[in-house]
Amino acid sequence: MEPLATQQLHDLVRDAERAISEAPDINALEALRVRYLGKKGVLTDQLKRIGSLAADQRPAFGQAVNIAKDAVAQSIEARRDALHKAAMQQQLVRDHLDVTLPGRGAGIGGLHPITRTLERLTDIFLRMGFEVADGPEIEDDFHNFEALNIPPDHPARAMHDTFYVERGGLLRTHTSPVQIRYMLENPPPFRVIAPGRVYRCDSDMTHTPMFHQIEGLAVAEKVSFADLKGVLIHFLQQFFETSLEVRLRPSYFPFTEPSAEVDISCVFCEGNGCRVCKQSGWLEVLGCGMVHPRVFQHAGVDPERYSGYAFGLGVERMGMLRYGVDDIRLYFDNDLRFLEQF
Ligand code: PHE
Repeated sequence: MEPLATQQLHDLVRDAERAISEAPDINALEALRVRYLGKKGVLTDQLKRIGSLAADQRPAFGQAVNIAKDAVAQSIEARRDALHKAAMQQQLVRDHLDVTLPGRGAGIGGLHPITRTLERLTDIFLRMGFEVADGPEIEDDFHNFEALNIPPDHPARAMHDTFYVERGGLLRTHTSPVQIRYMLENPPPFRVIAPGRVYRCDSDMTHTPMFHQIEGLAVAEKVSFADLKGVLIHFLQQFFETSLEVRLRPSYFPFTEPSAEVDISCVFCEGNGCRVCKQSGWLEVLGCGMVHPRVFQHAGVDPERYSGYAFGLGVERMGMLRYGVDDIRLYFDNDLRFLEQF
């Protein structure tokens, strides 16, 4: 084959440029580069034919082919740039992130209804001059039973459904052991409440294996049952925000004498009788009494000089009555539809 004439070289470059400008993607462009500028490419091939020209024609021909090569290379570069920019643009559109969209927002959490009830109960007693005391949830027989006048053979132990743990320990079945711990450390007079978790092996509509109590204990010279009654009536009216009726029924606890159970007029039917109060018109809300002299002796307090009252109430139960919760297990299911109502 003869080397191309100048006009043919022009045509070749023109065809190449058109094909290059129409190359749909990088692969097609690369194929064109190989076709024109590769080792066996059309223009490379032209340079190889330079030897067949007369010596005086060679410089001009060489120059013309080199100019053609440069032109083709330049249009390949231009096309490569354009394709690259288009790809970038496409990706930008695809991965478009609208930073002006409003955020999904983080919901504001709330306190658990038990926490709210505990805070509310505690608040009322703090305003009445009580201080907060606490004790361990893993107790021993002495504090949970013995010192509270519940000896090993006492039938009250059977009612406590105790969880025992290793080395003679047990999960406290009530907050009353805090009475003993507090009295052993602090001389009277004092007024304390002890809110906290307690455990009993029991589970149904009204019982969970873990629940909360608030213990109350006031010890001084000449503390009377009338003081206890006054404090409880005031407390109950504050908590339920109504002037409900309060009734004390004689009862029995090994650690108080005399002992009483406290009822309020039903907050759901105002005493007329309903499902919640089992048609009685009354709801039992707490146990209480005057500290038993034997408890004072175990706790190092002189029963001749001091007297005191104690009470214990269930926090879940108080919350159920205050907020109309009809199944204690709702508190511990962690169902947001329930929790969000508070
Ligand atoms: N500890 C008792 C209970 O759990 C309640 C109570 C406390 C009763 C203090 C009297 C005095 O049932």
